Amino acid sequence: MLFEIVTLAPPHATAIVPIRDRDPRPGRRALGAPLGSAASDGRIRIDNDEIGCIAAQIQPGRPSTSRTDRAAMQSSAAQTSIRMTGVLSYRIDERCVLRLLEEADASELYAVVDDNREYLARWMPWAANQTLEATVEFIRDSRKQLADNQGFVVAIVDDGRIVGTLGFHRVDWESRSTSIGYWIAESCQGRGIVTRAVRALTDHAFSIWQLNRVEIRAGIGNERSRAIATRLGFKEEGVLREVERVGDRYVDHVVHAMLAAEWSTASM
Ligand SMILES: CC(C)(COP(=O)(O)OP(=O)(O)OC[C@H]1O[C@@H](n2cnc3c(N)ncnc32)[C@H](O)[C@@H]1OP(=O)(O)O)[C@@H](O)C(=O)NCCC(=O)NCCS
Repeated sequence: MLFEIVTLAPPHATAIVPIRDRDPRPGRRALGAPLGSAASDGRIRIDNDEIGCIAAQIQPGRPSTSRTDRAAMQSSAAQTSIRMTGVLSYRIDERCVLRLLEEADASELYAVVDDNREYLARWMPWAANQTLEATVEFIRDSRKQLADNQGFVVAIVDDGRIVGTLGFHRVDWESRSTSIGYWIAESCQGRGIVTRAVRALTDHAFSIWQLNRVEIRAGIGNERSRAIATRLGFKEEGVLREVERVGDRYVDHVVHAMLAAEWSTASM
């Protein structure tokens, strides 16, 4: 199991299990800080409407949960305050981890977007006019997405600093399908961080959620983005003509997709 997240019988709920990647260095924030706010008794308070069903104290490495565990999880989710020992976190390498975003990240995330605005705006329509307020909204939406069991978005954290995000664009549980999007700061390109992160999310979609299809759409001229899909063995399926407006131009998207049956061999 890659991410410390357990999905109950879809589309009902998601549970989060203990963290493995706390950063012990002085002056560093803990990687994967808690989802809720810490109370003085050391308990983490989580709004039920924010995270619909969170279970604490599930052991890492358990690929699925028993019927009894599920009942226990649902019952703990009904409480407004539960003991939370950790949150989703996944290590890419010794410097880099993926972790959930929280509202306190807004200024840091916004600053990265602002520093990379021109570079991002070549392919991402939201980047040109992104504001701090819109960044807060994006983070709130990402929390709601997780609570609604519609996938999740994570920050890419390099040496303790946020350098990008990636995540799922919702999950179609009916068709067992999803798609993945990503960006990383220009200065962090070329290290294979995003390829490895996309591999982890794809693995999660197939092995934990048991989905059948994962899609990546990229601008036809966005060679770096398309290279990620190709490197991971996604198949090119076709072109959606002028499907997105970016700045003053319409961009064609190339659809790349991986099916569950292909992934086990492609990911070797
Ligand atoms: C698209 C984007 C994420 C690609 O970033 P990237 O750095 O090229 O992708 P990766 O992090 O996977 O790095 C791949 C590079 O690292 C190298 N690499 C090093 N170690 C690697 C490893 N362990 N695994 C894979 N690749 C590795 C690859 O060879 C490749 O090198 P190259 O640039 O010389 O071809 C980035 O350009 C970006 O954010 N662009 C702006 C936003 C955007 O377009 N988003 C996508 C919208 S669809």
